[in-house]
Amino acid sequence: MHFEYQNPTRIVFGTGTLSKLGEVVREYGKKALVVTGGGSVKRNGTFERAVRSLNEAGVAVAQCAGVEPNPRIATVERGADTARREECDVVVALGGGSVMDAAKVMAAAVFYEGDPWNMMAHGQPDRRLPESALPLITVPTLAATGSEMNSGAVITDEKSTLKSVVSARCLYPKVAVVDPELTLSVPKDQTANGICDLITHVTESYFNGIDGTPVQDRFAEGVILTAMEWGPEAIADGSNIQAREQVQWASLVALNGWVQAGTASPFPVHMIEHSLSAHHDIAHGAGLSAINPSWMRFAARTRPDRFAGFAHRIFSIPLNGPEDSSAAMEGINRFEAFLASIGCPTSLGEMKIGDALIEQYAQDTLQVIHDAEGRLPGRPPMSAE
Ligand code: NZQ
Ligand code: ZN
Repeated sequence: MHFEYQNPTRIVFGTGTLSKLGEVVREYGKKALVVTGGGSVKRNGTFERAVRSLNEAGVAVAQCAGVEPNPRIATVERGADTARREECDVVVALGGGSVMDAAKVMAAAVFYEGDPWNMMAHGQPDRRLPESALPLITVPTLAATGSEMNSGAVITDEKSTLKSVVSARCLYPKVAVVDPELTLSVPKDQTANGICDLITHVTESYFNGIDGTPVQDRFAEGVILTAMEWGPEAIADGSNIQAREQVQWASLVALNGWVQAGTASPFPVHMIEHSLSAHHDIAHGAGLSAINPSWMRFAARTRPDRFAGFAHRIFSIPLNGPEDSSAAMEGINRFEAFLASIGCPTSLGEMKIGDALIEQYAQDTLQVIHDAEGRLPGRPPMSAE
């Protein structure tokens, strides 16, 4: 096992920490570009509280609203233009993964020469990673992606219908202000999608990694068990702050690179899902949920031992030897039942996605895996550069 790991993002975690936003941001700049999504933070009062905290700390505000789920490169360009025009010296992302990802690329696009799409894995052959960015402070309002403390961003180019990844050292947020109270308004379906997303972040390396990583595997199991215990509580009662806290911390741990360190995972389920959500307007977590059971049954043919271990440690299914393929299948069935129990789709048919574009999805997936691996040999796309 060989790896380098550094995650420089400072975390300010806990209920009520939004009130500290101003003092945190003031350390990095005097005028913030505040990036938001389609309006949830305005409807639930989070935006107003954030701006008040910034203003009280003497930080002026410019806005970039309207980042769409599965954010577009045109939106990134619009935000970078605003940051330049308004002479912002810091960026604040107030929203879900889409807002945080868009804000990351906006922060880098301010200094980037040429088309910012060239930062992305699909930007080959002109691919050039960003080397500098405005300081970014993330304030997640949805527990799912872990974007608040990793170096990755996922952006879609509408023209080519490609959804692609960038990961660069300069994209790490300086600080993540993580206030679980901000997630109390997340509806049941988005809460469930987030739970599926965070679990998949650790199963990607659990099932695809190299062998001999017991520490990473036990961390992954801890994330899965925590999400399966507290996730349904957060769905059943959205105002359960303890459940929201556990799910949110799990989502950060799942994709801050710690669990993936040394596992050399290519994230295939994600790469397939990105191809789907580039073509269809679907939530990322729901797309992963639809792909997971079939992908697992396929992968278990070559690695029954990993899936048997999963069945045993997650569902306490007794094993008849380390490669017990019927136990492996039972574990996958139980996982599929869990996904269905929280209201997530477990097949593409359930999402009304037919097979007309199946060849295209396959080609796009192979392309992005090839491009990402060409740049990051043996590393997961979302981990530290
Ligand atoms: O846009 P608004 O109005 O804010 O509404 C959003 C959006 O409709 C809503 N929402 C967010 N916080 C809310 C809320 N509604 C009520 N109350 C709140 N507190 O939820 C909807 C979905 O938001 P979105 O940001 O799209 O969801 P998510 O956090 O799941 O992010 C998905 C995006 O992240 C990418 C995905 O591909 C997708 O584009 N990913 C980013 C990763 C990363 N940077 O590390 C890793 C992931 O694997 C993923 O690929
Ligand atoms: Zn994901």
